[in-house]
Amino acid sequence: MKKLLITIDGPAGAGKTTVSRALAQRLGYRYIDTGALYRGVALAVKTKGMNPQNDADLKQLCNELELGFVVNEDGLRLMSNGQDISDPIRTPEITMLASSVSARPVVRQYLLDLQRNMASKKAAVFEGRDMGTVVFPEADLKYFLDASPRKRAQRRFDELKSKSTQTLDEVERDIEQRDQNDSTREVAPLKPARDAIVIDSTDLTVEQVIKVMMSYIE
Ligand code: DC
Repeated sequence: MKKLLITIDGPAGAGKTTVSRALAQRLGYRYIDTGALYRGVALAVKTKGMNPQNDADLKQLCNELELGFVVNEDGLRLMSNGQDISDPIRTPEITMLASSVSARPVVRQYLLDLQRNMASKKAAVFEGRDMGTVVFPEADLKYFLDASPRKRAQRRFDELKSKSTQTLDEVERDIEQRDQNDSTREVAPLKPARDAIVIDSTDLTVEQVIKVMMSYIE
């Protein structure tokens, strides 16, 4: 079968990560979590104690930052200048900081090039917010995965339970705040591409979502 470039965009908690991983595995494709890259930039901003609104400093930081994925015995890991940062990028603080650095054009430009380089061989599932609209407008198949805000908060809450002390209401507030940030920013706001297949996963299991996706691929 022809090797495809597949994009999956959507808001936080819509189930993108689980579905993208499962789809990539089903197809024998690489899975690229682009949100992790924004989190990687956010972690570097925090580590350096930088102001996330200072574009000159952000540019300098991006120039010195080497982000990349490796697969090892722990699965898919994100490396930043040789260091495994897969776990520290998942805290609520980095989650919010990633949302604010992702609104800065210098950061988006740096990651645009990086993401396109990662797609050179196709046979990949790219998960993010602007994969179908900005990064890969020529993708072979574009999906936009959505779900109700409450359902998304519940999923995030279940996922974070062991790692965070946030309540369900706090998780829902953070999700609403991030939706607002991600969909109203000037550069590459979160929205479905005109030719995206929109799937509402509120009442669907992962397997059901994959089935819908596979029906288009086949
Ligand atoms: O998918 P995630 O929660 O790991 O993403 C973290 C943040 O990064 C999210 O608030 C929006 C931003 N992001 C983005 O702007 N564009 C992408 N392609 C992926 C993520």
